Amino acid sequence: MSAYIINGGNYLSGEIRIGGAKNSVLPIMAASLLNLSETVLLDCPRISDVDISVEILKRLGCKVFRDETTAVIDSSDINNFEIPLELMNKMRSSFIFLGAMLAVGGKAVCGYPGGCELGARPIDMHLKAFKKLGVRIKEQGGYISCDSSHFKACKVALDFPSVGATENIMLLACKQKGTTTIINAAREPEISDLQNFLNSMGAKISGAGSNKIKIEGVASLKSVKKRIMPDRIVAATMMFAACISGGNITLKNVTCSHIESVILLLQGCGADIYTHGDSLDIICSKRLRFSDTLCTMPYPGFPTDAQAQAVAAFSTMEGTSIVKETIFENRFNHASELKKMGADITVDDRIAVIKGVKRLSGAHVYAPDLRGGAALVIAALGAEGTTVVDNIHYIDRGYEQLDKMLSALGGDIKRNDYYE
Ligand code: EPZ
Repeated sequence: MSAYIINGGNYLSGEIRIGGAKNSVLPIMAASLLNLSETVLLDCPRISDVDISVEILKRLGCKVFRDETTAVIDSSDINNFEIPLELMNKMRSSFIFLGAMLAVGGKAVCGYPGGCELGARPIDMHLKAFKKLGVRIKEQGGYISCDSSHFKACKVALDFPSVGATENIMLLACKQKGTTTIINAAREPEISDLQNFLNSMGAKISGAGSNKIKIEGVASLKSVKKRIMPDRIVAATMMFAACISGGNITLKNVTCSHIESVILLLQGCGADIYTHGDSLDIICSKRLRFSDTLCTMPYPGFPTDAQAQAVAAFSTMEGTSIVKETIFENRFNHASELKKMGADITVDDRIAVIKGVKRLSGAHVYAPDLRGGAALVIAALGAEGTTVVDNIHYIDRGYEQLDKMLSALGGDIKRNDYYE
């Protein structure tokens, strides 16, 4: 097990570089199956979700080589189209491999991903779209067996702009005959990054970033080298860390247009934020104030993946805030841990009311999930005294050495790998 030991109160200052995006590299790693050749990924983050994706790729017969920031995937010898339950359970978003496995092998089997800390996380929209596209699906004993030999390109409409379902359809359809159109597609930047990646392999996809994506199937795809887009949620996390610790920090390698909703929110709270090219300066010289309602929404609305971090920052801002979580049914697990640090938060279903207190106090808290864990680190940076954030394996899923990033900015944070 591992924990962070954090002594709060340090002012954050200096410059850090944001790495490649977890939610872009994961579908792109699945897409690397499609060219039956070599894929080179630059800015591939060293996070545990990528490690699991590497394990899956190797299980399917790929060769994978990694150094500090690059991954090389060779899919020329794929010989297996089945992902076992134990690997699916390690990372539910492994389900994104289904579309790519079908595109290459015509048949695929994977474990049923099941839910996670955020809620049921069903896959009904994925399966409904696949069935509309002629995929034959058998669900039995926790496994899903698919056969796409009767694939038929057509228009599919999503009941909700699901990121994963949009990506899975793009991966399935890009090497199938005919034109597939996704109506009510997700508009997240990671979808555009996937479209750019696939088109650089020779695919013919257009519309990513809008709610309508057109995929014209091609017969084959080629080797490619691609830099993964910057992680907009890591950037947002560092901004909230600056807010709670009264920081003045510069983020390099940021796509500022991807975090406009976060920039506008924090400027409204009184932070000074300047953007120039792929850099962003945030200066929080006084106590911030927020007395309004924040709703998480599909992109370009405020990202659900930054909600926990916002709740942590609101907990010591002036004013009373209301946060509505509209994407997931159970995404306030961090509230009970923040309350151990003295936060005044009331949660009722998908709504949290946060009354800002002057300062939080250190405590022994437990990361409930990936972004909830990041929220506890943020809270600890501003708290009085020492905080132990336990169960940080959750944080390792999506943040590459968060302690090193924050220490480089002056945060007093150390990692403790202990064994029970
Ligand atoms: C992606 O998850 C991200 N993960 C999530 O980031 C992110 O929170 C989410 O998109 C929303 O932006 C990756 O990209 C790996 P969805 P995904 O399908 O694709 C429901 C993080 O912290 N739904 O857009 O699973 C679902 O339960 C993670 O980095 C169905 O009901 O999200 C949820 O309530 C967390 N049926 C909502 O839709 C389906 O078939 C949005 O899910 C699919 C989804």
